[in-house]
Amino acid sequence: MQSVPATSTSVAVPPAGSTKDHWNQHARQWNWVSSPLRPATEDVAIAASAVQQWSDTHQPARLSTVLLGVTPELARMPWPVDTQLLAVDRSEPMIHSLWPEDLPHSSVVCGNWQSLPLPAASQQVVLGDGCFVLLDWPATWQAVLQEVHRVLQPGGLFIMRYFLRPDHPETIDEVFARLQQGRIGNFHAFKWRLAAALHGTLAQGVRIADVWHEWHTRVPNPQTLADQLGWPLEVVSTINNYRDAPAGYTFPTLVEARQALSRQFHELSCTFPGYELGDRCPTFVMERT
Ligand SMILES: C[S@@+](CC[C@H](N)C(=O)[O-])C[C@H]1O[C@@H](n2cnc3c(N)ncnc32)[C@H](O)[C@@H]1O
Repeated sequence: MQSVPATSTSVAVPPAGSTKDHWNQHARQWNWVSSPLRPATEDVAIAASAVQQWSDTHQPARLSTVLLGVTPELARMPWPVDTQLLAVDRSEPMIHSLWPEDLPHSSVVCGNWQSLPLPAASQQVVLGDGCFVLLDWPATWQAVLQEVHRVLQPGGLFIMRYFLRPDHPETIDEVFARLQQGRIGNFHAFKWRLAAALHGTLAQGVRIADVWHEWHTRVPNPQTLADQLGWPLEVVSTINNYRDAPAGYTFPTLVEARQALSRQFHELSCTFPGYELGDRCPTFVMERT
């Protein structure tokens, strides 16, 4: 695999996010965010290898690809020669903070995944990282899956890392006990475990403001906890983005994720990474039916 030379363009349209959109703050704190929220090298390798394999098999004249979001690790992954990449994200702060302007054969547009600015069956690959955690079930999940299906050509590739909740969730008390005992390796893994513990059904999801509230109630002095666990306060403070945020997150079980995908996609692989909480962060590689 190799990277391809050329230019990168930026197309801006009005932002969809409100001032309460936590992505504003998230963009500013991106360097304090890490795995499992951001994809690790092994997640990127799964996507890169699936794309290269698809390209080797189908030999398209040019690979047309859509990235849902502006996840820099995926944007910068090794692409087959002559790949054309379009990234779509509705947050201008995220685009401006994260999009690598030096990326060859690529462009970014501020837009919604529910209405991608592309003709039907025009793309060979659509990919993204953890996108569905941000979407409510069932309406927005289905609208985005329908849109991905629409823009992909039959047999095209859909690659997505999902954030799952376990079949038998931890209780909130268990999550905090494990935190205090130093049995959770990093703050973002803790955040995801707490969110999953507070989660209802897939239709209910979890309000991220409730994640912040539970945290704030139980850990009134984060500096002490950060010192005790040896975590930078800046990393621990990323949870403050959730305060008063209107967003809800959805964490499907593995069965629920598969059920949702199986209507329009054929599963080629589902790979669980080896890092902490990797058993809840599989990458699905799917083929459009
Ligand atoms: C790609 S997801 C990745 C989640 C990430 N792994 C995390 O939790 O930090 C994040 C991006 O999705 C964008 N986003 C969320 N819903 C969207 C939608 N319906 N259309 C376009 N972009 C959306 C947000 O603006 C944000 O930049």
